[in-house]
Amino acid sequence: MTTKGKYYITTPIYYPSANLHIGHTYCTVMADAMARFKRATGYDVRFLTGTDEHGQKIQTIAQEKGVEPQKYVDDIVAGVKSLWDTMEISFDDFIRTTEDRHKERVQKIFMEIYEKGDIYKDVYEGMYCTPCESFWTESQLDENKCCPDCGRPVQHAQEEAYFFKLSKYQDRLLDLFKNNPEFLQPESRRNEMIAFVEQGLEDLCISRSTFDWGIKVPLDEKHVIYVWLDALTNYITALGYPDNKELYDRYWPANVHLVGKEIVRFHTIIWPAMLMSLDLPLPDHVMGHGWLLIDGGKMSKSKGNVVDPVQLIERYGVDALKYFLMREYTFGQDGNFTSEVLIRRLNSDLANDLGNLLSRTVSMIEKYCDGIIPAMGKKEAIDEELIALATGAANRVEEEMNQFRFNYALEEIWVIIRRANKYIDETAPWILAKDESNRDRLCTVLKVLVEILRIVSILIYPFMHNTATKMQTQLGILTGEFNWDDTMQFEKIAGDVKVEKGEPIFPRMDVEKELEELEDINKAKMEAAKAALK
Ligand code: MSP
Repeated sequence: MTTKGKYYITTPIYYPSANLHIGHTYCTVMADAMARFKRATGYDVRFLTGTDEHGQKIQTIAQEKGVEPQKYVDDIVAGVKSLWDTMEISFDDFIRTTEDRHKERVQKIFMEIYEKGDIYKDVYEGMYCTPCESFWTESQLDENKCCPDCGRPVQHAQEEAYFFKLSKYQDRLLDLFKNNPEFLQPESRRNEMIAFVEQGLEDLCISRSTFDWGIKVPLDEKHVIYVWLDALTNYITALGYPDNKELYDRYWPANVHLVGKEIVRFHTIIWPAMLMSLDLPLPDHVMGHGWLLIDGGKMSKSKGNVVDPVQLIERYGVDALKYFLMREYTFGQDGNFTSEVLIRRLNSDLANDLGNLLSRTVSMIEKYCDGIIPAMGKKEAIDEELIALATGAANRVEEEMNQFRFNYALEEIWVIIRRANKYIDETAPWILAKDESNRDRLCTVLKVLVEILRIVSILIYPFMHNTATKMQTQLGILTGEFNWDDTMQFEKIAGDVKVEKGEPIFPRMDVEKELEELEDINKAKMEAAKAALK
């Protein structure tokens, strides 16, 4: 099969955490939609996700629980995989940093960098944040002398360690940001990184010897490789670098590393410097997204405000949740999550706009045409206008998607849906049906609507693949019968196709009632959690 090229997209590898929340799913949902979109538009896609399982924090928790760290992470990672299963995330590979394939390759990479002369041994003295597993210099601490990332207290630490010569790459990194504005987006993050590098880069501590839950430094087994070298290299070890380079040759450099804003620094400073040391090409883009917040603040277990994606999926379905995450928030900015905004959005866009368009169209074809999609008659200006809007949408959606503007891409599709609903009101098929002399006009209107729905179903596939299939079933279309390019053409459905009315694809909710029920569920959950603690 000929393709438009390769497309390699990655999410961060997640720290094993018993409950990944809606914020974690946000990134993975965007990566999934992008991977599906690129597959649909003809690319050879590789989509990687995984888990980042080493470090002191994991070792400490496992010790507290009285289990081996490996056993502890195995159980949690099974839960992470099952969440991605529930959310129907279409990754091609899931890498765990505790897998042999990763560990062996990280050691080889360590030695390659060492042999380049970019790793040396020294004594590390600094402030360490255990929860974030980050060393900070005094000047980097926040105004309370705490960790600038999480605000928690830091400890003074001193130990022998291996260092990576990050400072050596300072000028090349500045050139990268200045000469290649596309490398890091959005723009505001790029300016932050330039300012950070301009302050002067210090060499990076890449080994620890006070705990042993990690990959051993090959030339000094008292040390384990400190997390960021272990974590960032996953993007190439998963492709077989350096010993089995078939996938590496096919997919590297990555087209996109999709990451949250707080780890942009690691991906655009440390990671490129490591790749420069290895003489490997840099990723094309690092895209930094914002956070989902609750009442303007971070979600956290201690605040008890963690939004559980599984609960939302059980109530509203996977597609609704995915749609909401991509439609409601603007890439690169933080967004506030509330149940009310979610429910209102699902009601207006999915139940009203999309659901109604489908059910009205299918019902009218059943009622006026015995369920058989009619043939197109003579078109009028109002038809042509709607047809042009729909057949031109694929290019506009593609333009928005290439900028990671998921909400604008969806808005392009919803412009068609809302216009088509208005078209029904304006053409009033129920009036046309009263007079046999309007038969040709009635058939044309219904056929136009079916074709519009066909196009919409293909366009929404990357975002909501189950809904696309449900729509196609109701329209009598076989899954996979039409592809992305078929959205640019009209009158693709052959004659004599029978529609099949089904359940509403998205039920309309009573907002007040739904909010009350959610509150009851959350109260019951809190009480159960409290009872479990007693
Ligand atoms: N293990 C590192 C990443 C290593 S990548 C080589 C890590 N893991 S994490 O589990 O803490 O975070 C993974 C991703 O989840 C990050 O991109 C982070 O920004 C994202 N999110 C965590 N909470 C979030 C929100 N509330 N909202 C949006 N994204 C959030 O960092």
